[in-house]
Amino acid sequence: MKVVTCTAPVNIAVIKYWGKRNEDLILPINSSLSVTLHQDQLKTTTSIAASRDFTEDRIWLNGKEGDISHSRLQSCLREIRRLARKRRNSAAEDTVSRILNYKVHICSVNNFPTAAGLASSAAGYACLVYTLAKLYGVEGELSEIARQGSGSACRSIYGGFVQWVMGEREDGKDSLAQQVETESHWPELRILILVVSAEKKHVGSTSGMQTSVETSPLLKLRAETVVPERMKDMIESIKKRDFESFGQLTMKDSNQFHATCLDTYPPIFYLNQISQRIISLVHRYNDHYGQTKVAYSFDAGPNAVIFTLEPTVDEFVELVKRSFPPESNGDTFLKGLPVKPGLLS
Ligand code: PMV
Repeated sequence: MKVVTCTAPVNIAVIKYWGKRNEDLILPINSSLSVTLHQDQLKTTTSIAASRDFTEDRIWLNGKEGDISHSRLQSCLREIRRLARKRRNSAAEDTVSRILNYKVHICSVNNFPTAAGLASSAAGYACLVYTLAKLYGVEGELSEIARQGSGSACRSIYGGFVQWVMGEREDGKDSLAQQVETESHWPELRILILVVSAEKKHVGSTSGMQTSVETSPLLKLRAETVVPERMKDMIESIKKRDFESFGQLTMKDSNQFHATCLDTYPPIFYLNQISQRIISLVHRYNDHYGQTKVAYSFDAGPNAVIFTLEPTVDEFVELVKRSFPPESNGDTFLKGLPVKPGLLS
């Protein structure tokens, strides 16, 4: 038996991916950009065992057996095994050939709420693909395979600041993740996750995107005219470590993503009243200082991701604690994570 264990961190998009032009290959209608969290923060840990005693491939997610026949899981397994077969004439030939004939048991655990709009599928599929690659000794471009598990997963293959270039080809060979800057590029940058609700989201990203692509004129406009410019501006602000510009672009892009959700028919609501109160709090705080000291971003759920710089963390966390005392807000609580962008191990 051979067993491999790896971890992969969550990534948080500051330019959002929303909408596919090809559902099977998971090709997006716009490029996107994210920050990968540090390895020891929000992460998935996956162990994969290959043994001649196993009679079928199986998977367990957070301790419960999952459906291994799921088409996206199968795409990842098939692609990695295909690459492993291709490179069998290397030194590792014997072991890899043997293991390729074995079935695998996959065990994956998240240390944060799954499917609550905290990018669990991104860390999950990045980890699955990375661990399978280690098991079969596959090297090289893994983001193309992770993308076929969950679009945003391709960005978790790299640490630091990562763009997913949408590409132009029909076969998706140029729809890949690329590191824009490494995890050590902006040491003062901090990310706080304000967990508003750990409940599963009501509309999953797959079906939400589908309806948005079919019905939202705003989404089409966003993909064609807004995001291309915004990607350039965002990359420049990251390279210059310009928080004023980084923070504003991040908030505007989150707001536009949620506006396209509202423009979808029937509309999709991911933000709740507490999310809206967090948005107001951030704007009031920034207005007080006359500069962008804190920025928010929300994915497909009500939980807030706050970006700020190290000197602002303590004061802002205090403010959030005072504005949202745990006893008055049911399931609202604060999870303060002073995180640095991190690398996949
Ligand atoms: O990769 P998916 O299907 O989980 O979609 C992710 C969509 C957002 O999280 C809302 C945005 C993003 O770019 O991560």
